[in-house]
Amino acid sequence: MTGGTFRVLGVVGAGNMGSGLAQKIATEGFDVVLVDVDDEKVARGRESIRRTLAAGVARKIFTEDATAAILKRVRATSRFDDLAAADLVIEAVFEDLDVKKDVFARLDRICRPDAILATNTSSFAVADVAADTRLPERVLGLHYFYHPAKNRLVEVVAELESSEEAVRRAWTLQEMLGKTPIRSRDSCGFIVNRFFSPWLNEAVRLLEDDVANTATIDAAAKQGFGIGMGPFELMNVTGIAIAAHTAATLSRAFGPLYAAPRRLRKQFASRQPWALKGEVDASLFDAIIDRLAGITFYVAAALVDEGVGTIEDTDIGARVGLRWRRGPFELMNERGVREAAALAADTARRWKTRLPDTLLRQAAASQPFRLSLVNRNIVDGIATLTINRPDAMNALNEAVIEQLAELFALSADDPAIEGIVLAGTGKAFVAGADIRFFVKNIESKNFRRIVAFTRHGQDLLLAIERCRKPVVARVHGVALGGGVELALAGHYIVATPSASFAFPETGIGIYPGLGGTQRTTRRVGVGLAKWLVLSGQTVNAEEALAIGLVDRVVPYEQLEATIRELVDRGRPGPRTAQPVPATHATVAEFFERDGLDVLKHDTPPDDGRIASALRKLQSKAPVALRIAAELIERGAALPVEEGVALELGRLEEIFSTADAYEGLSSLGRRPPVFKGA
Ligand SMILES: NC(=O)c1ccc[n+]([C@@H]2O[C@H](COP(=O)([O-])OP(=O)(O)OC[C@H]3O[C@@H](n4cnc5c(N)ncnc54)[C@H](O)[C@@H]3O)[C@@H](O)[C@H]2O)c1
Repeated sequence: MTGGTFRVLGVVGAGNMGSGLAQKIATEGFDVVLVDVDDEKVARGRESIRRTLAAGVARKIFTEDATAAILKRVRATSRFDDLAAADLVIEAVFEDLDVKKDVFARLDRICRPDAILATNTSSFAVADVAADTRLPERVLGLHYFYHPAKNRLVEVVAELESSEEAVRRAWTLQEMLGKTPIRSRDSCGFIVNRFFSPWLNEAVRLLEDDVANTATIDAAAKQGFGIGMGPFELMNVTGIAIAAHTAATLSRAFGPLYAAPRRLRKQFASRQPWALKGEVDASLFDAIIDRLAGITFYVAAALVDEGVGTIEDTDIGARVGLRWRRGPFELMNERGVREAAALAADTARRWKTRLPDTLLRQAAASQPFRLSLVNRNIVDGIATLTINRPDAMNALNEAVIEQLAELFALSADDPAIEGIVLAGTGKAFVAGADIRFFVKNIESKNFRRIVAFTRHGQDLLLAIERCRKPVVARVHGVALGGGVELALAGHYIVATPSASFAFPETGIGIYPGLGGTQRTTRRVGVGLAKWLVLSGQTVNAEEALAIGLVDRVVPYEQLEATIRELVDRGRPGPRTAQPVPATHATVAEFFERDGLDVLKHDTPPDDGRIASALRKLQSKAPVALRIAAELIERGAALPVEEGVALELGRLEEIFSTADAYEGLSSLGRRPPVFKGA
């Protein structure tokens, strides 16, 4: 790869997975070479991409123009040699080891020595696929899920010989593609299929044991795991053959507990879908959920015992890849680990095996699993703290703040660490705070808990700001509300071109309480701070740079080098707002001078930003607007500690308004109706 950047990617195999992957890659702006054995297969793959995109146009996800541009980036061909230009190639041919090995031998000859080669195999060891390559260090697994343009999960699989550098670059590419990567060891079924396959099998065994009919098992599973489709309906959609095949492969690696039940093999042989008929008997739900949970808990703990994946990645795999409401370990915590261990012990007894240590230890301690929501990674003296809640867009909650504070203190105190980076996993930086937490505590009138949460958040942000080591916020994707506030506490903000920033608070009845009404002013001045906080206007990376909200905008692949440069430069002196650029002078002056009186103007200045802001202000909560404007004005002349204390002082007042409850509880369901109280 030239300079670590990705320009052209390759995909081999234009079937279900390959064509979907090529579509996704092109949608994210990369050129992709899609190869299949002959022109007919190539044309079929291309047609499948075109059809999926056309469906996207019909559903208004893409415009005609965007679709044409995406298709132009896909070069579908039957000439393997065209892969010579690729920086990374993903193999997605038939699940046949000889075919795959042959493809890898060809890639080995054709591709540049610095190109990364990845296999999307579901059941073979990556090491076996790579066996005949001359440079095994550049081979790894990238296991995507169907439909690969829609399902965000990818298991990044390092085999023993894969170099850390290749794994790191491949991981970075997944984030650039908007995927949610989790890391798995090169072990049969990786993380997700390892527990998903036994879960499907157990559903079939419940049928085989005459515990319930398919309709009841599906309904119970939907309730117990918070999913849209039960196991039988799911198998009908994704293929009974795949379920039987995966079970057979896993049982060869891990024994009879994983084998396909006789009833599944029979159904596969009949080539018929499962009959989903029958009365649903809700009285059987608990027994069904317990059996499904027991085997899931057993297998999830076993895979963690073996070091295949972490408990966090197992949970993310379930939530993102399978769309379960909670992952296995969260489910165990919810049940209580002792009860979870008892259910898994029932499974272990049936299969004459013992409970995995991970579960035994936790049950003996009678403590819930500690789920890390923040990862710390130290490279060359720089500690990166990454919030790891990709499916909640890394929203801040009590546990995130607590873990972030702990890891931040650890990094700040460690003399070997020169700089600290704040980051988010996946497509967003941080999308604000957990709204459900606010709604729940307003309903129970527990305002003290909201104040305590905010105080902890403010303390953390003050600690970040005061840190003697340089702290860099690395913003990729959206930063909303608390996310912008977290970034603003850092000494530098580095954003990728895809980053965007907004304060949506006044539109949901509240105001930014983690320094948003204070630190924004210190970067962009009172006028633009009011414009941003009151109107909730979204600014993209380029505009954020122009007004001084961020310090640098660099392509994703230059993030690391830029962060290094800023850390080497050291902590900057106290920040003063940069002069307002000419492009924003009118809107800044308007908001600075007139405060909330802007709403009363009959003839506001003729400026697009002002017109748009005035329209937005009409839909905001009046009390939130008033308090936010006051806080910005009063805080501007104060030290930041006193400014955030002002924010904290008005918190109970704002959260007890009817409008706050209305705004927060209607979010995502309907537009709020504010009464001004
Ligand atoms: N379908 C899924 O849900 C899913 C999910 C994750 C991973 N996978 C894995 O992805 C891979 C592909 O699965 P799929 O469902 O897309 O299969 P598919 O049968 O739909 O497509 C395979 C494609 O590979 C092509 N092909 C075969 N040999 C080739 C060769 N030597 N060179 C170039 N192209 C060749 C075939 O012509 C076909 O178009 C498999 O390894 C599978 O296990 C599948």
